[in-house]
Amino acid sequence: MHNPFSLKGKRIFVTGASSGIGRAIAIECSKMDAELVITARNEVRLAETFRLMNHDGLEHKIIAGDLSNEDDIERIVDFIPDKLDGIVQCAGFTIPKPFKNLSKDNFEAVMKVNFWAPALLTQQLLKRKKIEKAASIVFISSISGVFCSSVGGNAYSSSKGAINGMAKNLALELAPQSIRVNSVNPGMIHTGIFASGVISQEQLQEDMKKYPLGRYGKPEEVAYAVIYLLSDASAWVTGSNLLIDGGYTCL
Ligand SMILES: NC(=O)c1ccc[n+]([C@@H]2O[C@H](COP(=O)([O-])OP(=O)(O)OC[C@H]3O[C@@H](n4cnc5c(N)ncnc54)[C@H](OP(=O)(O)O)[C@@H]3O)[C@@H](O)[C@H]2O)c1
Repeated sequence: MHNPFSLKGKRIFVTGASSGIGRAIAIECSKMDAELVITARNEVRLAETFRLMNHDGLEHKIIAGDLSNEDDIERIVDFIPDKLDGIVQCAGFTIPKPFKNLSKDNFEAVMKVNFWAPALLTQQLLKRKKIEKAASIVFISSISGVFCSSVGGNAYSSSKGAINGMAKNLALELAPQSIRVNSVNPGMIHTGIFASGVISQEQLQEDMKKYPLGRYGKPEEVAYAVIYLLSDASAWVTGSNLLIDGGYTCL
């Protein structure tokens, strides 16, 4: 059956695959017949993602590593087989603090995972010629730092704004090789990123009312957008910021 969104025959690398959005991306891409390499730090949760993936005729690979550690980044790049058709840079976290209380260490910790890791991974994969011509690179950014921000989100917004800037430039630089680069910018999605308890359930319920579609998003709803950007259906799409926010930024 003709399906321009199929990922059959494509090898895709996903970071942050042990939970939330990254896990949903790995599972949904496998259901679209992609062969995956998945990574994150927590081996148990990563193995659970692996178990939940579609394995029919597919040889997925799994490698644990800490993306704030440059030796681990190099080890992950070594592990990746030639060649990738798609890369999804999803690992990320936040340190919610008012700007005046953010230490240099706080800033560095967030930037290391949310910005430096995707930058270094992409650069090393390019240098080592592990990215196929006409491949698709997707950065999981956010509405925060690109379209809006939130109280206490300074380090996070800074890192996501930086990712979007990098994606725009890379789209230009890699276009001659037909490699496409796009970012996905979700609003609030129900995942473990809020499990820290910093935001109370009452605050979350109140915040949800600000979404014209009346709810937060689901991880799968981000995964479906990523599938589009990885597939041949988006062959003429590069340098875009795909907004997935239930209408939040319309207001
Ligand atoms: N949830 C939202 O509302 C929302 C909205 C907009 C954008 N986003 C973005 O979407 C992405 C995924 O967020 P999520 O909500 O799915 O969060 P999550 O459930 O907390 O998942 C974060 C992922 O990043 C990985 N990770 C964190 N630090 C890492 C490190 N040092 N090295 C390697 N992997 C690391 C985690 O794996 P380990 O802990 O196993 O290492 C986990 O797999 C993030 O980039 C986030 O900024 C989320």
